[in-house]
Amino acid sequence: MIKVVVCGASGRMGQTIGRMVNESSDLELVGGINLKPSSFFGADIVEAKDAENLLKTTKADVMIDFTIASAAVENVKMAARNKVALVVGTTGFTPEQNAIMEKAICNNVPAVISSNFSVGVNIFWQLVRESGKLLKDYDIEVFEAHHRNKKDAPSGTAKTILQILEDEVGPREKQYGREGMTERKNEIGVHVIRGGDIVGDHKVMFSKNFETIELSHHASDRSVFASGAVHAARWVVGKKPGIYGMSDVLNLKKIP
Ligand SMILES: NC(=O)c1ccc[n+]([C@@H]2O[C@H](COP(=O)([O-])OP(=O)(O)OC[C@H]3O[C@@H](n4cnc5c(N)ncnc54)[C@H](O)[C@@H]3O)[C@@H](O)[C@H]2O)c1
Repeated sequence: MIKVVVCGASGRMGQTIGRMVNESSDLELVGGINLKPSSFFGADIVEAKDAENLLKTTKADVMIDFTIASAAVENVKMAARNKVALVVGTTGFTPEQNAIMEKAICNNVPAVISSNFSVGVNIFWQLVRESGKLLKDYDIEVFEAHHRNKKDAPSGTAKTILQILEDEVGPREKQYGREGMTERKNEIGVHVIRGGDIVGDHKVMFSKNFETIELSHHASDRSVFASGAVHAARWVVGKKPGIYGMSDVLNLKKIP
């Protein structure tokens, strides 16, 4: 049995993942970490100050983190020094925070880090890459919509889309929303919507005179992210130290 600890256990993703781990026959939910103690599908949620002790006493094999960026950086450092494999789904990291995590992980533990664990989004990213290659001279606009409680914007998934587009069409200014007299330049427009309980929508629009191509992904339940993260947790245990993506977990062929 693979022993799993979930960080951010009381949150929307933490609860969905906890339920899924608890229901699986090859994984054991040995505890959760959050700001306040609570129960967690037959295990306990401990406060952050007791987190390291939880990892040691339970001999956890893998820690799954869906918290906030500042907390996730500390959790990654803690897991790395205790040689606990990692799955990190938290988004909103600064470049400095990413560098700190990379330093903590490399040569110490295997970690799967992805701004989106859904299989569909990972395939959608590949379609965006392929389209970017073919549509370099089109106007490009990126849209994302999420629930009213999401803290970071644009979403990590949208940032990954922007990185893929930059790889394929070259660097372009990002225009975050528009207001007043605006003249379109060779930019990528980025549009963020927040409201209600939207789980996660992303769209990329490529336009030229008389035609538009749209690629979109719609998530209607956060179990699509949770099942990807749980799949990644099974996969990452026993791998060589280093940072992996969901394309490694899913064995998706890289588009040349
Ligand atoms: N990669 C993906 O597929 C994916 C999918 C959905 C959400 N996310 C990201 O996951 C993160 C969590 O999303 P959510 O909707 O579950 O948010 P949420 O606010 O519902 O849950 C986050 C939880 O983390 C807890 N937390 C904060 N600081 C902590 C600390 N120091 N130690 C332990 N717990 C702490 C909070 O109390 C909260 O319960 C966000 O960054 C979100 O963007 C990623």
